[in-house]
Amino acid sequence: MQIHSSIPDLRAALRNCGRIVFVPTMGNLHAGHIALMTQAQALGDTVVASLFVNRLQFGPNEDFDKYPRTFAEDCEKLEAAGVAVLFAPGENELYPEVQQYQVDPPDIQNQLEGEFRPGHFRGVATVVLKLFNIVQPQVAVFGKKDYQQLMVLRNMTRQLALPIEIVGGDTVRADDGLALSSRNGYLTATERAEAPRLYRVLSDIRSAVRGGEQDFAKLEQTAVVQLDTHGWQTDYVAVRQQSDLQVPQAGNNSLVVLAASRLGIPRLIDNIEI
Ligand code: PAJ
Repeated sequence: MQIHSSIPDLRAALRNCGRIVFVPTMGNLHAGHIALMTQAQALGDTVVASLFVNRLQFGPNEDFDKYPRTFAEDCEKLEAAGVAVLFAPGENELYPEVQQYQVDPPDIQNQLEGEFRPGHFRGVATVVLKLFNIVQPQVAVFGKKDYQQLMVLRNMTRQLALPIEIVGGDTVRADDGLALSSRNGYLTATERAEAPRLYRVLSDIRSAVRGGEQDFAKLEQTAVVQLDTHGWQTDYVAVRQQSDLQVPQAGNNSLVVLAASRLGIPRLIDNIEI
């Protein structure tokens, strides 16, 4: 696997690489990231991963400084997954000056995750557009684990007419249902045992909706109570339309339940399509 930290070196390495499939990450890789790399292999000729902890998408009180950085292990996993090229720029390479031009997503950036993480999706959209311009892939793969992120980036790509196909990858879970996340490492043993409840309450909502329940507000509220009585501090549980993450219109059967809740220090997010 080639590793490049400079933009000119990367660009030179990517000449004549055929159809490029790009998988951006912030590192501390787990089986969820690696599944995206494997999925990427089948979508083109050259898989390019990036590893960059993007300061712009972290709020002032978030975990930017503490975000786990495990470069050597990450490289081993990417190599084993057949990634051809890794782009791992330093902060000075990607942000040599204050990033004054940014991508400002529409109002959805202020809902759900955006309500609790102001500016987060502006930071994500900005770095991903910048990475797209550097790597110039034909395909890019993002996990459904970050459902709202996937939707924002899909819509950005379409509205700005970027010549890139956006592909979603299924969420990889531990055997007990907990979605894999770099932030799971912050959980204590007791919290780790409690953590799968998030997926269970989402699954319960899916079963209820499939069984004909239409009162989404009641389902959402019940789920919040279930979590919070077990020591969680829930930001939201929301049934939304898959296409635009707005409140479901009557008759729309393509729904997704999304949730974010804090268990101890870490804030976990998850979602499940109905
Ligand atoms: P990061 O959190 O490192 O995630 C990188 C990619 O892995 C994202 O597309 C994310 O949705 C996916 N992913 C994470 N956990 C997953 C799981 N359990 N199953 C499947 N896919 C999973 O998301 C980011 O980084 C950043 O916001 C980024 C897009 C790189 C921009 O900085």
